[in-house]
Amino acid sequence: MASLSWLGDLSRFALSPSNLAPLLLFFAVFYLASFYQKRRSVYRNIPPGPQPWPVVGNFGGLLVPPFIRRRFGQTPDPNIGVMEALTSQAQVYGNIYSLFVGSQLLVVLNGYDAVRDALSNHPEVFSDRPDVPTISILTKRKGIVFAPYGPVWRKQRKFCHSTLRNFGLGRLSLEPCIQQGVASVKAELMRLSEERGGSGVDPAKLIGNAVSNVICSLILGQRFHHEDPEFRTILDLMARGLEICINSPAVLINIFPLLYYLPFGVFKELRQVERDITVFLKKIIGNHSQTLDPNNPRDLTDMYLMEMLAQQAAGEEDSSFTEDYLFYIIGDLFIAGTDTTTNSVLWVLLYMVLYPDIQGKSASMNQRGGRQTRGRRVCMGEQLAKMELFLTVTGLLQAFRFRLPDGEAAPSLQGRFGLTLAPCPFAVCVTARGEDGFS
Ligand code: HEM
Repeated sequence: MASLSWLGDLSRFALSPSNLAPLLLFFAVFYLASFYQKRRSVYRNIPPGPQPWPVVGNFGGLLVPPFIRRRFGQTPDPNIGVMEALTSQAQVYGNIYSLFVGSQLLVVLNGYDAVRDALSNHPEVFSDRPDVPTISILTKRKGIVFAPYGPVWRKQRKFCHSTLRNFGLGRLSLEPCIQQGVASVKAELMRLSEERGGSGVDPAKLIGNAVSNVICSLILGQRFHHEDPEFRTILDLMARGLEICINSPAVLINIFPLLYYLPFGVFKELRQVERDITVFLKKIIGNHSQTLDPNNPRDLTDMYLMEMLAQQAAGEEDSSFTEDYLFYIIGDLFIAGTDTTTNSVLWVLLYMVLYPDIQGKSASMNQRGGRQTRGRRVCMGEQLAKMELFLTVTGLLQAFRFRLPDGEAAPSLQGRFGLTLAPCPFAVCVTARGEDGFS
């Protein structure tokens, strides 16, 4: 018994408030020492970069509310976006530098040469996807875009790519489907322009709609009217979900994943957006299951369900072809096939209104193919994207002259950080070619 009496002494010692502070200090110093020791040994050869804070890495500033930062003389500049902030660091540390998101190392590649060298000359390193908490929570690392590089990703991608090709991806047979969208953008642009007089029209929703309808035809077998409330809601939900993940305090989920479950603010909103998208897509998959006719598959969803049933019938117990996986694939294609192409078309239009003399040269526009890379992870919709860009941009420029509304200041070329860089909202006025004296 006597040998354990020191335990009582120790508990009295530990509980004493005057001894708590040195103990905490000891743990803090110990933690910091092991943090910097680990950084020195594990991350010996990483590119240079700003010194990270313990626990939060280089994103510590995000945790300090703006009113406290202002007290210390720091005024967050709303005009400096994430891209500008990252680019400015490249001027200090070079075009390849390190950042820490929490304890996760992130290597930033800045500029065309660094990105091209990495993707073209080191595909074996860059074909995988990192385990980023927000993405992993939302995608469960399923689907195609964010799935780890490996046999499941390869099987699913191969199946989707060849099925989409059968439905016209990258083939001339898809042209009427794209032209249908272009025709409706042209008609709406003309109608809204006349209705609004000189105040102009924001083309973002019209273009987004037309682009999204092409991917909807391929994967869901249906097009939606741009005023269809359900379709509008799902496009808005996807845009809002991306916005929250990338441009809100929800980025802190990448440092403290449990924040995702907070019952308020953008965290709660993100979970609601996720639930609403799930309900929408699951309803579509359910409808396809009920009306499936194996002799007359309508789209990628039908083909996937048929493959899933065939694999079940063949007794493949560990098949990755499930309704759950299909759900993530549809979400991936929807987002990858909408946001990217829409923003590319919007950038072209923005540059056209800022440099109007270039519009006179549009008749000689030609489609230039990029060099196709091999064996490695590349965009699955590249051919579709090129076709959509070419037909949409030429279709619009052959029909209209675009200009800024009278008296409107030139829109910023800064862009909004997102899945891809989107132009900030801008309005255009259109005049039918020929009516303004130009051909
Ligand atoms: C201008 C339009 C587009 C751009 C700039 C673009 C760009 C990209 C980029 C940079 C990647 C990542 C490639 C990598 O892992 O290294 C990617 C992947 C992907 N894109 Fe696109 N994309 C566009 C249009 C489309 C369209 C229309 C689709 C629709 C089918 C699509 C579907 C995909 C898919 C499924 C992936 C993931 C491929 C994989 O991880 O295996 N993209 N895209």
